[in-house]
Amino acid sequence: MERPDYIPENYNRIKVVESLTALANACFGKKTPENCFLLPRQMKGDFDGLGQALAKRSRIKDGDFYSLGLRQIKNALTLPLQEDQKLALKQIFDDMVSIEETFQGRAHSIHLRVVRGYAHSSATRFHTDGGNRLLCGYSLPVTECAKNEDVIYTGYDNKYLLKANAQPFSFAPGDMWLQEGGRFPDKKPRNEEDPQHFIHRATEPAPGNVRLLLICETKAPSLS
Ligand SMILES: [Fe+2]
Repeated sequence: MERPDYIPENYNRIKVVESLTALANACFGKKTPENCFLLPRQMKGDFDGLGQALAKRSRIKDGDFYSLGLRQIKNALTLPLQEDQKLALKQIFDDMVSIEETFQGRAHSIHLRVVRGYAHSSATRFHTDGGNRLLCGYSLPVTECAKNEDVIYTGYDNKYLLKANAQPFSFAPGDMWLQEGGRFPDKKPRNEEDPQHFIHRATEPAPGNVRLLLICETKAPSLS
């Protein structure tokens, strides 16, 4: 598959794959550079409108988010939504079912996060997650990412600072990706031997907008 132009050129930590099966079969290893496998996709439907409808129904406030599991998404399919919003919701439901089937017991806690903001979370700072995750941002702004060489470890809480003049990047709405996570000990200075997990941060939706983000904890096989 052609490498999308919105990811850094000649950056071997991100590998583009062609199918969900390829994502499920992806391996992270100490001897291989990848810390992210990306499945570029184009979706149809009104994800922004769906986000607004779900947020309105749940009455979440600006700066907050909540999560819906597979059963709740299935129930939501009966809501009186506009056709293009229903189409968007059906694709999210299909994604969840396909992930469960394809990952065969290695996908856990699959949910859709409905986001009006991250006022109570430090996820908007560059960080690594504690474990491997499968994600899809259905609406803008999608998660922001940084190359490992573009950040400096703060020394605590798996948080990183972007170097001056470094450019973060984002995937496109609908893209699905598997990212490598892992804890890094607090107060330990960063050096060349550090784990090179995937660096990213949550993005705040514009005021009044709602982000829809699929999140799934995975046990991706690791090569030693
Ligand atoms: Fe994260």
